[in-house]
Amino acid sequence: MILELETQHEPGFDEAWLRLLQSAADTAEKAEGLHTPAAIHLLITNDQEIHTLNREQRGIDRATDVLSFPTVPYPAGIRAGAVPELLEQEYDPDEGAAYLGDIVISMDHVRAQAAEYGHSVERELCYLMVHGIFHLFGYDHMEEEERREMRAMEEKTLNEINVKAYDRGELIARAKEAMKYSYSPYSHYPVGACLLAKSGKMYTGCNIENASYGVANCAERTALFKAVSEGEREFVAIAVTTEKFLGWPCGICRQALYEFAPDLEVIVACGDEVDSMPLRELLPHGFGAAPDRLGKE
Ligand code: THU
Repeated sequence: MILELETQHEPGFDEAWLRLLQSAADTAEKAEGLHTPAAIHLLITNDQEIHTLNREQRGIDRATDVLSFPTVPYPAGIRAGAVPELLEQEYDPDEGAAYLGDIVISMDHVRAQAAEYGHSVERELCYLMVHGIFHLFGYDHMEEEERREMRAMEEKTLNEINVKAYDRGELIARAKEAMKYSYSPYSHYPVGACLLAKSGKMYTGCNIENASYGVANCAERTALFKAVSEGEREFVAIAVTTEKFLGWPCGICRQALYEFAPDLEVIVACGDEVDSMPLRELLPHGFGAAPDRLGKE
């Protein structure tokens, strides 16, 4: 799905969040079974702006978490997936997509609701995005039956991506915890790692050195080998922590991780400093495994 993103009052809107929203949109599009490529406009803003829009567009004088403005004239009770010809009519060759409408999300509400429900900001952001998208697909929740159908589609989509809506803070905290066990008397460079599997389980690791220097094992591979040796094959993200400066994984670890998870999100943290990048970008043109060796179709 083409996401036209506009952010207001959120200068630090994280690239990783955008990738997450893109994946939420793509997963929802697949769940609905759209054949025509779709485009939406997404405005990420604050309570004040969403309040104004809610009042001006819908006559409701309060802030809210998400607003959606569908543009496709679906017949009553009909959803995007059931009317491929309608979406084809909406197809704009200049855009290369059918425009489905606008979604507006307030980050003030995202943060407050995440805290209230005790889950991550990413998880809440994803939920609101998916909810908005299904509105743009013609779903509604005025009546019980349609509410249930909409909820089921949201659940299905979120289940597919929920592991990506992980709590970065927790991953980093666990990597820091593992760093305490680093055995690095030769380099004095302790490293910790925490690898999140698609199963939702987290595996930690530290670097383990040896008097015969070349035997050293990096923290990332310690975590990876622990996970794979317990049956994991698919991974979402890894956090790597160091003490003095940000430490991106070495070439061998990039290759080792790429075997299982080319789309892995790699997060590096040192003190309060954090950065992240998809493994694909850390290892461009990576040499990967044939999908059948991973037990996938
Ligand atoms: N090390 C890691 O644990 N991860 C990396 O990505 C880079 C290097 C460790 C290996 C060795 O114990 C020490 O850091 C110095 O190379």
